[in-house]
Amino acid sequence: MLLKENLGPADFEQLVDEQKATASRLIFTDQSIFELEQEKLFAKVWLYIGHDSEIPNPGDYVTRKMATDPVILNRGEDGNINVLLNSCSHRGTLLCTTDTGNTKGFTCAYHGWAFGLNGDLKATADDMNLYDGKVDFDTLNLKSAARVDSYAGLIFATWNNEAPDLADFLGDARWYLDLYRKRTPQGMEVLGAPHRWVVETNWKTGAVNFGADGPHAVKVHGPITQATFGIPPQAVRDSLLYSPAISMGNGHNGILPFIPESLRGQVPAFTGYPAELIELYEQCLTTAQLEVSRDLLGGVQTMFPNFSSVQAPAIFRPGGPPINMLAIRVWQPISATQMEIWNWFLVEKEASEEWKHEAMLAGVRTFSPGGTFDQDDAEAWAGITAGIAGQQSRQGDMNFQMALAYRDQIIPDFPGPGKAYPSIYGEVTEFDVLLEWQKYMTA
Ligand code: FES
Ligand SMILES: [Fe+2]
Repeated sequence: MLLKENLGPADFEQLVDEQKATASRLIFTDQSIFELEQEKLFAKVWLYIGHDSEIPNPGDYVTRKMATDPVILNRGEDGNINVLLNSCSHRGTLLCTTDTGNTKGFTCAYHGWAFGLNGDLKATADDMNLYDGKVDFDTLNLKSAARVDSYAGLIFATWNNEAPDLADFLGDARWYLDLYRKRTPQGMEVLGAPHRWVVETNWKTGAVNFGADGPHAVKVHGPITQATFGIPPQAVRDSLLYSPAISMGNGHNGILPFIPESLRGQVPAFTGYPAELIELYEQCLTTAQLEVSRDLLGGVQTMFPNFSSVQAPAIFRPGGPPINMLAIRVWQPISATQMEIWNWFLVEKEASEEWKHEAMLAGVRTFSPGGTFDQDDAEAWAGITAGIAGQQSRQGDMNFQMALAYRDQIIPDFPGPGKAYPSIYGEVTEFDVLLEWQKYMTA
């Protein structure tokens, strides 16, 4: 439903209130705001596309989305990575309709126009000479992303020629990405194809929740946290209440849940990892990163705007060892009240095949469409849409006011960069995702 046809910066100044730490419910339901996001945010910012390990060889490709646009991510004959709009330059048909494969190029099923891996038009329906020299075929190559780059095997692309370098866009967040994604010499690989499922909620709900929401872990996931982590709910609460949340800058946010005081000495360092990997972590991470990593129970992050991750050690056999899973995911916008989650599991290349399998199972059982945690979340997130879409209910605010108590409490001398706040209950970092969103929408 269109709220207003011409929303301007002044409207967006009001829709997120930094002073009060609230945001209008409309930004989670209004379709005209959603349309403006495509233009002002998703067309401007770096977006996560895929992982290096998904396209190891020339000709390898996967089909993806950059917000609402379909794209093809492939590795060219020269080894370079291409990100192409998956839309035929003849009449716009979706060009590549398979999820993944290896090819020398892409041929449209409608009239047969053919394109190379770099998007160059190679052939039309029949002899190109039939156009009698009246068409400049160079203008009919596939549209490519303006910039493509990667960090720690994570491939990002943007439509924006003016975008800062990816390294600058990620900035201090790289230090925290390293804690989970750059711990061994060979780096990580993706386990299998992405899981994809639709949730009836705005994409920002997921981005904010992974920015990250502490109290919900105890409440909505309460009964399964003990079964999954093998520690009492009170200890989970203590971990979240007294562990830091980090604003890494540029809208990137996350949490570092530590082993709570009550369990120190009972839970080993690097809980949930095999000794052979821990040895490599100790070689690759810096002293400061090791200081933070050793006592972590897991971690949750959102790289602005819609790329998130979660790591957690899961126990599924009574008395069995905890197994860490690491999921990365994109909250793909479909409409103001619908998103599609794309979810992959990552594991270190150096891990044993047995451990990779266990890590995959731990992920599927927790953070996947059938996973215990995602089923809880999807129910709550769809509940937001159901709760705020009416004429009366859409008029209220989303409340992040725990931030008022915590936003001035920055931990001095925290070992990592950015701003560290003393509690994952603080709502400061969740709200920061929306403050960054507001910057793009008012620009
Ligand atoms: S639409 Fe692709 S060849 Fe015509
Ligand atoms: Fe959750």
